Amino acid sequence: MRHFLTLKDFTKEEILEIIALGLEIKKSLKAGKFNKELENKTLAMIFEKSSTRTRVSFETGMFQLGGHALFLSNRDIHLGRGEPVKDTARVISRMCDMVMIRTYAHSMIEEFAKYSKVPVINGLTDSYHPVQLLADYMTMVEYGVHENAVVAYVGDGNNMTHSWLFLAAKLGFELRVATPKGYEVDSDVLREAMEMAKLSGAVIRVCNDPKEAVKGATIVTTDTWASMGQEDEKEQRVKDFAGFMVNDLMMCLAQKDAKFLHCLPAYRGQEVSEEVLESHADIVFGEAENRLHAQKGLMVWLDKQRG
Ligand code: CP
Ligand code: NVA
Repeated sequence: MRHFLTLKDFTKEEILEIIALGLEIKKSLKAGKFNKELENKTLAMIFEKSSTRTRVSFETGMFQLGGHALFLSNRDIHLGRGEPVKDTARVISRMCDMVMIRTYAHSMIEEFAKYSKVPVINGLTDSYHPVQLLADYMTMVEYGVHENAVVAYVGDGNNMTHSWLFLAAKLGFELRVATPKGYEVDSDVLREAMEMAKLSGAVIRVCNDPKEAVKGATIVTTDTWASMGQEDEKEQRVKDFAGFMVNDLMMCLAQKDAKFLHCLPAYRGQEVSEEVLESHADIVFGEAENRLHAQKGLMVWLDKQRG
């Protein structure tokens, strides 16, 4: 049995296999065919943070695969009143076939997985957002921009950045990360990614200059400057991130026809300008839609591992 907690636990072949499976399922859905691979199965979805895409994509995906998804906010279940994670894991995993969790500390999801009898999927923690990266790479494949990709991530060194680091390190593409001083990526994550990059041939660079990162990039991406749980820091961050907005001037430094990706929700006028977001709306909302297809691939793949 496998859990999906971070991309570092997966090989390049496995990541590509999950994405290929998602693309196959997407193709049949578009042809009006519903694959009922998860008939009679249930997915428990524990949300300790807000969500639009993650909730809608997992719930819809599970329904389309013939199964059922339970939305469990921590306001509704005893976890939010102090029932231990290990007890919650043992109860839920005796009734459900898979669990998706969105929470704060990554250690919570690791503890849950330790006690769970069924696969656990990371639907975002403070440290990582691996399901988003499955959708992002699927989108790169669909737009034919995955080969020789040079990805520039401009913004906060956060859960998205850490997952980009692992994706690049596993798949072997070039990733340049530009963060303001004081908002760099976690040094342990960077060290691990650098180690993995030695095997895959990935080129990983970190700096504090967005222009340096974006110069000649084929894909530019960013994320909110204040993630969930950092609402109190918003005002300070807006000041500290001055010069980090992905706008037309910034996109001009990238390769001609460079693509823009954003996991959403986007804060126009902060990490991205209205013009950049709207002129890349097709790929950005395609990326959001791919959350559904990539995660269907993931759930079917995880279910198959259980035999
Ligand atoms: N990108 C993403 O995970 O969106 P939600 O927070 O809406 O789920
Ligand atoms: N970094 C953001 C991602 C939202 C999908 C957050 O954690 O809030």
